[in-house]
Amino acid sequence: MSQKIEMEICLGSSCFSRGNKDVVNYIREYLKRNHLDDIIIFKGSRCMGLCNTGPNLRINDRIIEDISIEVIESILEKEIGNLKL
Ligand code: FES
Repeated sequence: MSQKIEMEICLGSSCFSRGNKDVVNYIREYLKRNHLDDIIIFKGSRCMGLCNTGPNLRINDRIIEDISIEVIESILEKEIGNLKL
């Protein structure tokens, strides 16, 4: 597959302090473990302006709200699990 997926995690102060700090490490480790580093462009972003519904994660143009360390694995499996080798 040549199409890249862009994944951006909000590291604004609200999302950062409510769990995204730990979720960043989890996602990095997930991408590495599943050899998805080349397909998924993963980066941090400033406040997305949606603090009330955060912590937030954007995958391409879609925002996934209310993420946490407890649910991130199932979100990743659902969203990008089909890309695993
Ligand atoms: S800090 Fe994440 S949306 Fe504002």
